[in-house]
Amino acid sequence: MDKIKVLFASSEVSPFVKVGGLADVVGALPVELNKDNVDARVILPLYKKIKIKYQDEMQFLGWKLVRMGWRSLYAGLFQLEKNDTIFYFVDNEYYFNFDQVYVEYVFDIERYCFYQRAVLDFMGDFMNFEPNVLHCNDWQTGMMPLLLDAHFKKHGYHTNVQTVFTIHNLKYQGVHATDVVREMLDLPDEYLRDEFCIKDRAINFMKAGIVFSNSVTTVSPTYAYEIMTDYYGEGLNYTLQKYAYKVSGILNGINDLEYNPKKDDKIPVKYDIKTYQKGKAACKESLQKQLGLEVNPGAPLCAMISRLVDQKGLDLLLYVLDEMLYDGMQIVILGTGDNYYERALVDTANRNPGKMCACIDFDSGLAHTIYAGADIFLMPSLFEPCGLSQLVSMAYGTVPVVRETGGLKDTVTPYNEFTGEGNGFSFANINAHEFLFVTKYACDLYRNHKDVWDKLIKTGMSGDYSWKKSAKEYAGLYSLITGIPLEEEKPEVKAEEKPEPKKAEAKKPAAKKAPAKKSSAKKSAAAKSDKKEETK
Ligand code: GLC
Repeated sequence: MDKIKVLFASSEVSPFVKVGGLADVVGALPVELNKDNVDARVILPLYKKIKIKYQDEMQFLGWKLVRMGWRSLYAGLFQLEKNDTIFYFVDNEYYFNFDQVYVEYVFDIERYCFYQRAVLDFMGDFMNFEPNVLHCNDWQTGMMPLLLDAHFKKHGYHTNVQTVFTIHNLKYQGVHATDVVREMLDLPDEYLRDEFCIKDRAINFMKAGIVFSNSVTTVSPTYAYEIMTDYYGEGLNYTLQKYAYKVSGILNGINDLEYNPKKDDKIPVKYDIKTYQKGKAACKESLQKQLGLEVNPGAPLCAMISRLVDQKGLDLLLYVLDEMLYDGMQIVILGTGDNYYERALVDTANRNPGKMCACIDFDSGLAHTIYAGADIFLMPSLFEPCGLSQLVSMAYGTVPVVRETGGLKDTVTPYNEFTGEGNGFSFANINAHEFLFVTKYACDLYRNHKDVWDKLIKTGMSGDYSWKKSAKEYAGLYSLITGIPLEEEKPEVKAEEKPEPKKAEAKKPAAKKAPAKKSSAKKSAAAKSDKKEETK
């Protein structure tokens, strides 16, 4: 049976380049899909660092001239196989030969216009891969479903390519002057409409992705719901409401090969659910020494590893940081970001030697040691599409304190002192003292109720945060929008579950094979779509 062919397009992909969680997702999900019955490949820009590090392993597939308005620009295509997955790289030194992934806002708009056009030009014969699904991620790829429609499908090319657009963060939308983008992308006038890609008289890449893709996903069910509301909708809530029929939330996983305290070479002492007491104590001591904190096994060590931006709730943290330190907590922050937060955190750390460390850095080795050595992990995010750090921290037996939003709400169940249930702590409102009180409560349990704390650690460490389940959900979605059935969905598997095979067999295939009837799934989506349009 043919595998479903999926091409992931993303501006960041681990381990090649990473700025945030987007890279982790696009680095891990295709690899997991390839273990099953999907042929998933990935295409990203060939940034300077990738070129330097991986050049020798890459194969040059060829080059093309890509149109950008009146210009024709060189685009090279390279290929590399890693983790049984094929990665393609788009080369153009004028656009991508920089140390950083993102360079400057307006230039980034141009750089990703070029990238999107190059990907679409390479797709098919040139890269010897015509996907059934083009899976776009965030604004940097948001125009592709529209371009596919305007430049290709209309002219009879790539007519069977379906598109998925995943929102990892609705806040960054790729907004720029209509005239400029129209020229770079050669956009036909009929696409420059409010109901398509225009928002507040400017082109909005994120909006185009939502409107033109066959399916929109976001990275947790709660965020999928939240983004339809005024507060979280970032101005696109009405667009998302209009297309709600094709929006769903699929929770991210984490790369369990990279984040496994039993096998992690980056941490001082490896441990598992049986040996965590000794293991975590050793990691904590080592972390305290490494960061110049007072070596004190009893002090609750609270950590945060994050981009230092307002989304992450840093204002809440800064508001109560002194009170936390006064309470005897040790605080470790690792990350880079807005100057204001960097300076404020460093200032507080300087005022509190031995108690707090602000590491303004992007250091994966230190990150692993913090996940292992900390007792409590703080994520007071204002919004959090999914959040990966809370999953990593739980896998390492570090108990999260989170705000109840997005993926944090979906993955952290607050400790219930009556039933003993829970794997962390949470608070509801964007209120610094709520955050402080919950963290203090966690510290009290840490200090005085070892039995409770051990249970929290064990519950966290025994959770399944792998990509398996989510990869299956994505595969199901690809199957639904393409009409290509998945191998697994054959009746034998189901038949085992049910004792009466005859009836079960007669019913199940019909239900499960819905995608096989190619257009029926599509039609129903389309039908729903029409209905929505009519009611609006
Ligand atoms: C973004 C979001 C984060 C999510 C990640 C991967 O970085 O802020 O919540 O986990 O994308 O989807």
